Amino acid sequence: MRAASLRARASASTCAARPAPCTSTSRRRSFRAPRAQAERSDEKQEGSSPTSVPEGENCDYGFTAGTTGLYTDRDGPSTPRNVVKLAVANFQKELRALREWQDSREELEQTQDSGFSEEPSAVDDLAGSLEDEELCINFQDELKKLTIDADAVYARELDRHKDGDYMKKKSWVIKVPYLVLCWLLDRVYSKERPIQRFWFLETVARMPYFSYISMLHLYETLGWWRRGAAVKKVHFAEEWNEFHHLLIMESLGGDDQWIDRFAGYHSAVLYYWVLNLLWLASPVLAYQFSELLETHAVDTYGQFVDENEDLLKTLPAPAIARQYYQNEDLYMFDEFQTSRAGKGRRRPEINTLYDTFSNIRDDELEHVKTMVACQNTHVAVRSPHQR
Ligand SMILES: [Fe+2]
Ligand SMILES: [Fe+2]
Repeated sequence: MRAASLRARASASTCAARPAPCTSTSRRRSFRAPRAQAERSDEKQEGSSPTSVPEGENCDYGFTAGTTGLYTDRDGPSTPRNVVKLAVANFQKELRALREWQDSREELEQTQDSGFSEEPSAVDDLAGSLEDEELCINFQDELKKLTIDADAVYARELDRHKDGDYMKKKSWVIKVPYLVLCWLLDRVYSKERPIQRFWFLETVARMPYFSYISMLHLYETLGWWRRGAAVKKVHFAEEWNEFHHLLIMESLGGDDQWIDRFAGYHSAVLYYWVLNLLWLASPVLAYQFSELLETHAVDTYGQFVDENEDLLKTLPAPAIARQYYQNEDLYMFDEFQTSRAGKGRRRPEINTLYDTFSNIRDDELEHVKTMVACQNTHVAVRSPHQR
């Protein structure tokens, strides 16, 4: 009831671009309603029957930790500065974040040792209106209630193994690293940190497609293999899709902590080079490894959506999710869905976080199908636009 009334107030105030000083924690940020999303608020999309939320639920969640500019912003350049300036600026930013992270950990330890629970100070309480504070508490604190049960995800995986000899057909060369990776993820990311876990997964999930494009490009340049040229376009559409999953997680605070960014970025770079080597040894095995990981993503997002259904249906979709799934130009969205040629195309309507995560789960299933198709060395993989 409280969340509903707060959302109604959010609708009334439209969460416009005015700063919303937040007072309960030092890391809260203001909400904003991006122009592109606000312009689209009246538009209706055909498609499935998504959940509905009150009109005007155009609020973003206000996290900006890792944001170094969104391509959807109309202002600012799209060409970066030289590598030295970029690297130094990034190092300084992350060093500051590392120190803040260490300070906050020490503060937390001291608080726990003393048994004292910190309350917002009176000075903080004067920083913003009650309405602004409640909006922050509503959306960011509601996100903290989301969970992911790793045992339930594993149970879904075991269910899949019962279907014929699913795992028996996979090579041990990829099964071992896959199982180690899943085991590590379950230990590093606790039940209470699903968004951070998804942010990590989406950061590394882009790498296979980048690797496949790189290797196909290399083979083309060497004059070894050009029959896969059109598949590069499919892989780029897949990478573009994963990139938007990543942006959605960032809009929900998945990269808010320094330690998650450190782990995600370094793992992704390492993963890219390992995948290139795997491709050199066997492109089929590389695709098979991706099939396993994408299937794991379907299980993970499926469990998350089912486990948090009620709460997800009360929270608005991030602006970037609406922008991606409800864009007027869905060429790139259709391009990676190789199994849907001749069938109806997906046209998601995105109102809530439930709609958002349900569609991410469905995207991952499309990735599985494409990865399976890519393992067939006799039939060409084609996008729906090629038929
Ligand atoms: Fe993804
Ligand atoms: Fe994926």
